[in-house]
Amino acid sequence: MKKLHYILTLIVWMLFTSCSSPALSNKINSDKFRLIFNSDPMTTMTIAWNQYQGKPTLYYGLTKETKNHISPQRVVKYKGMNNNFVRLTNLKPDSKYYFKVCTFSKCTQTSYFKTAPSDNRAFTFIAGGDSRSIPEGRIRGNILVSKIRPLFIAHGGDYTHHGDAKEWQRWFDEWQMTRSSDGRMYPLTLTQGNHENSDHEMLNKLFDVPNPDVYSKLDFNFLSLYTLNTELEPAVGYYDMDIRKTKQWHEYDKWDAQTKWLENELKNDKKRWKILSYHRPLRPHRANKDEGRLRYLDWAVLFYKYKVQLAIECDSHLVKYTQPLKPDLFGEEGFVIDKNGTTFIGEGSWGAPTRKNDDDKSWTLASGSFWQFKLITAMPNRLEIRTVKFGDEKTAYNPNQVKELTQKEQDKSPTTIPKNLDLWKTKVGDVLKL
Ligand SMILES: [Fe+2]
Repeated sequence: MKKLHYILTLIVWMLFTSCSSPALSNKINSDKFRLIFNSDPMTTMTIAWNQYQGKPTLYYGLTKETKNHISPQRVVKYKGMNNNFVRLTNLKPDSKYYFKVCTFSKCTQTSYFKTAPSDNRAFTFIAGGDSRSIPEGRIRGNILVSKIRPLFIAHGGDYTHHGDAKEWQRWFDEWQMTRSSDGRMYPLTLTQGNHENSDHEMLNKLFDVPNPDVYSKLDFNFLSLYTLNTELEPAVGYYDMDIRKTKQWHEYDKWDAQTKWLENELKNDKKRWKILSYHRPLRPHRANKDEGRLRYLDWAVLFYKYKVQLAIECDSHLVKYTQPLKPDLFGEEGFVIDKNGTTFIGEGSWGAPTRKNDDDKSWTLASGSFWQFKLITAMPNRLEIRTVKFGDEKTAYNPNQVKELTQKEQDKSPTTIPKNLDLWKTKVGDVLKL
């Protein structure tokens, strides 16, 4: 009898402290959601969030009923957050997956994401970086994501200024503005920037990036996206700073391993499009930025040899398109125009302080200085690159004036983009075609 009384008391207490407890149920349990393409974009998705209390369960599925459920496979206390990670696998390509997180029987709103197509269906993606320092600019870009509905966002690094807890928490809160009005959220791919160098595991702990050295390749059906880490370059990024601390003089090991990996991957890559994202440009269009040394010498030759068509660069807080380029030591700053070469675009200004574009070359197609990211439409036979402007420190811009593309419109025609975006006009018009 005593035992039964104890069990009943326990059940009442559990009920009281779970869904029926006003003290707990009124609190937010989960926030700061972010999705990441860390593996096959057609069949996997990583969902991460901050959990305040309780044991969360992620419910997901192809319908709003979200019939499947899974517990986080990894929890990392970092930057003042309990970063929970669910790695979904065996998903269907080109599909909508709904998800919500429930704790103490209380659930978040239901959101959804899309997996990448496994056929030749076109898609759009956004490439931009340097979202640090000025939230006003960053938020403008975030809201534009929600209007454009890209398959994913390739972030080129320098997310925040110092990489501290306060800045990251704010960054994640503002990232929620990328959610579309119907609940669609968009995965990121992550690139290491120099402002993440205080902890070279930062992107692993916040986004579950699998390679601690933050370089990888994502396979889309007709396109490969390589992410490279310029911060491994000796005397440039964190690897150098680390070895000074540890006094281990193997400073070229990690850099050389990355270059070797890149060549091996490129050599066997049969995809129609080969695109690279990395933080520091080989040849910045800002005069007081150091020229790339090893990244030029080691990488440019591989880009040309293996026919990389597009390299996305960041770091300088300005805007540029180059002509297609081939490395040539007799050319200006080591490049000459060659129609089979690599087009370099950049250079990261998603809310970072804009800088003057004061270092154009003879092979620069266009340059400018304003807040922007690139909107890339990928098709089997063509790449279209647009630069989406969102003002600057002195130029007002209201992203809410852009009419959100509906999911129905995009499903019908995957290359459709919102009509009233403020697109950069250059001598080739507002679309650079490759
Ligand atoms: Fe940078």
